[in-house]
Amino acid sequence: MIDVEIAAILHRAIGLEPSTIGPGIAQRTIEAHMKRLGLPTAEAYRACLRSSPEELQELIESLVVQETWFFRDPDAFVTLAALVISRRRNDNVRILSVPCSTGEEPYSIAMALADTGVPLSRVAIDAVDVSARALKRAEAAMYPPNSFRGSNLGYRERYFRPVPGGFRLDDATRAAVRFHQGALPRLPLEVAQRRYDAIFCKNLFIYCDEPSRKAIVTALTCVLADKGTLFVAAAEAPLISGGDWRAIEPIAASAFQRGERRKASGEISAPPSLAKMTPPARPAMRAATPAARPRVAPQPPPPARPPSVRPPSLADARRLADVGRLREAEEICQAHLKANGDLADAHFLLGLIRDAQGDADCAVESYKRTLYLDPEHVEALMHLASVMSKRGERASAERLLARARRAEAERRSR
Ligand SMILES: C[S@@+](CC[C@H](N)C(=O)[O-])C[C@H]1O[C@@H](n2cnc3c(N)ncnc32)[C@H](O)[C@@H]1O
Repeated sequence: MIDVEIAAILHRAIGLEPSTIGPGIAQRTIEAHMKRLGLPTAEAYRACLRSSPEELQELIESLVVQETWFFRDPDAFVTLAALVISRRRNDNVRILSVPCSTGEEPYSIAMALADTGVPLSRVAIDAVDVSARALKRAEAAMYPPNSFRGSNLGYRERYFRPVPGGFRLDDATRAAVRFHQGALPRLPLEVAQRRYDAIFCKNLFIYCDEPSRKAIVTALTCVLADKGTLFVAAAEAPLISGGDWRAIEPIAASAFQRGERRKASGEISAPPSLAKMTPPARPAMRAATPAARPRVAPQPPPPARPPSVRPPSLADARRLADVGRLREAEEICQAHLKANGDLADAHFLLGLIRDAQGDADCAVESYKRTLYLDPEHVEALMHLASVMSKRGERASAERLLARARRAEAERRSR
């Protein structure tokens, strides 16, 4: 059990709720720091954290979760590109990515916009994180293979060159992003003075308690331009929806705008030119799906039908689903279940497909079947929470999210 005063110090500094990072992890990390400093008691370590900002930063650096990768949640980048090109041709665009971790997110934003034909000279991206170590890696823009996940890595060919140990981003894309150190809810001065057309604040709220989340949302609201869009992770959408914020569905369920007039149906109008566009394929079929090129750019050819010599696999189904061929993807899932019996991943994929087809009842059934087979299936918990939240069942969504956080923490501590 982590010392309550140390927990309070961390909470004040970065809004972290230590229990969200896994049972025992925070405590073991604290003990390792006490040992390194030769401090035998929690009291001595508390005093050290209070008097030394450097030691507090050391502790923060070893507690924060920096997991990220390029084009994580492809939907968000598709939606952003659609929003940006719906503006006037010569408007400049200012975007904030916070927390940006090691830079994959803000650089993905730059690549997504460049792919859509928006000149990077029109784009200014600020990126903020509390971790000085993460920011150093972000500025170096040299990435190991693990930062590139999924199978659609065309962007790596276009924007990176191979170097020993990984890939280096080109200078023009690097130049579109400026990095700043800061701990939300406080924003660095330079950032606090600007207004952003879009803010990406993804995979942070899950580590915060309600008061911290509220403080962060308030800080971000102050720097979000009128009609600006706030992007959160799909799992965090239930934490944001309600109040002043409306998801800009049917475009994206985890992109929010404020102060819009609600239509009678309860939905928000998309910007006029956006409404005419093909909505992006949604939802992203898995956290680690290939980064789809924005729909507004020419589409890559759809995957060839799987060769007849082997039965189509779930990976084939996922690829088809990613390019919107939902019916075929569904058929493969059903055949897979028939041939191989009940498999959690096949039911989960079916759930995503049904969600994307707008059949929420069947999606819920598939997610529940997934959880019956694998009660700790984090993605199924998150997607089910998202459906529940859209139905207005907030308590049930919150419970599912709490379960997802525990399952994720458990997975990481193994
Ligand atoms: C899981 S990463 C998310 C990165 C990226 N947004 C994504 O979704 O892939 C979480 C990041 O939050 C940063 N962080 C945690 N608390 C923070 C705070 N209060 N202010 C700024 N950054 C914070 C951590 O240093 C870490 O790099």
